[in-house]
Amino acid sequence: MEKINPLATSLAGLSLSSPLVTASGTCGYARELSQFFDLGMLGAIVVKGITLAPRTGNPGTRLIETPAGLINSIGLENPGVEKFISGEMPFLRQQHAPVIVNISGNTEEEYAALAARLDKVAGVSALEVNISCPNVKTGGMAFGACTIAASRVTTLVRQHSQLPLIVKLSPNVTDIAAIARAVEDAGADAISLINTLLGMAIDIETRRPILRGTFGGLSGPAIKPVALRMVYQVFRAVKIPVIGMGGISTWQDAAEFILAGATAVGIGTASMVNPLAIPTIHQGLQAYATRQGVRNIAELRGMAHQ
Ligand code: FUM
Repeated sequence: MEKINPLATSLAGLSLSSPLVTASGTCGYARELSQFFDLGMLGAIVVKGITLAPRTGNPGTRLIETPAGLINSIGLENPGVEKFISGEMPFLRQQHAPVIVNISGNTEEEYAALAARLDKVAGVSALEVNISCPNVKTGGMAFGACTIAASRVTTLVRQHSQLPLIVKLSPNVTDIAAIARAVEDAGADAISLINTLLGMAIDIETRRPILRGTFGGLSGPAIKPVALRMVYQVFRAVKIPVIGMGGISTWQDAAEFILAGATAVGIGTASMVNPLAIPTIHQGLQAYATRQGVRNIAELRGMAHQ
């Protein structure tokens, strides 16, 4: 008899063996994680943000630990799309998990060019359009903070790619539901949220902000209640599926996001603390589904709204 997988789910036309995906930017191109567990266990591998040209990232301190999280200011360091395709895709294609490529640009045209370039690359299953990076001078979060800009970039990417489009939203806005509706109307197939919350730290001896750009992006357990609230709001606001993320560290956290309405959940900072966080959450979620008496975890999606 065929074994039923209680965690199997589908999202924007992709079949995922699990709702657990990597959160972009927290595991590079997944080589390091592959030393700890079979990446085939993942619902999808979401890679570090890719830009058209290579970027060396931000100077100075880039990571600051806080009592319940991490502030980053990486500045989208990446090898650029061509080197990503030639250097990283051969490894990623060998993994038994869909590959979702996170893309960022300084301009709408750069997003469009990236989408067009990645459209027919073997092994790329979907694009995550990053309109929420807080650590760059142009582009990034500027697109995600305004319904018009978010809609325009989504429309343009849609015109240049046949791949499923997931748009990654910033929490640094007043009305997340309005942004979510705008990208849905513009052709997004799914929404992922949240990216990091703006934060900062000050060196009390030098009396100066530690990060050269003053502010960075806070992730980790500290932001989980905010992320959960926004996933709950967005689930109510749109019909397309939601990938929830932000401080998920345990299977209980993942379960909360699914009950709030997430079809899949991203694990990020937790993997930096414990590279086996994903397999541990996977096991806990499987046992939870059985205890809840459901054949598939998807039956629990959005149940907190009833
Ligand atoms: O600085 C960074 O590379 C962060 C990217 C992001 O939050 O999307």
